[in-house]
Amino acid sequence: SAPGGSDVVARLTRWADDFPTPGVRFADLTPVFADAEGLRTVVDSLAEAGRDADVVAGIDARGFLLGAGVALALNTGVIAVRKAGKLPPPVHRQSYELEYGTAELEISAEGIALEGRRVLVVDDVLATGGTLEAAAELLTRCGAIVVGAAVVLEVEVLSGRERWKHGPLTTLGVV
Ligand code: PRP
Ligand code: MG
Repeated sequence: SAPGGSDVVARLTRWADDFPTPGVRFADLTPVFADAEGLRTVVDSLAEAGRDADVVAGIDARGFLLGAGVALALNTGVIAVRKAGKLPPPVHRQSYELEYGTAELEISAEGIALEGRRVLVVDDVLATGGTLEAAAELLTRCGAIVVGAAVVLEVEVLSGRERWKHGPLTTLGVV
């Protein structure tokens, strides 16, 4: 078995075909997070990847569930990297392409000190890698130092890892 609690991830992940669009196979980690052992295992394993970090960034929306837990495990704060339109201006914005469609990520341009901060980026799934790379790009543009990323599941066939340019990328399970 792979390290980092992938047994519980493999056991509890629910796969949905043709969602949200035909041809996409959707990894629903809800049952993993709903399980006490699952959530604890996943959060602690992701936190292992962030020992160099002094703040965690969680990506809207499923990355939020993990980001705060990882931040608590690392004794840091958490920053919400949000989808467009959720934060009051001013914001920093980054466009990206999804496996299905395009979107924008935003970080508040006021009230959060990012200059020189060592950030671990956290999300649930790495598919094409567009989301994770956009979040890291956005944080870097804001002056942060991205020390790596940690996600639960990597969908290998989509080669998301090849898009990632920001330090160690830890994944707990590869499908
Ligand atoms: C899903 C998933 C990752 C992203 C991975 O989020 O939670 O964030 O897609 O895909 P990528 O590697 O191809 O970019 P989604 O945008 O569906 O939204 P959600 O987290 O708000 O459910
Ligand atoms: Mg997401």
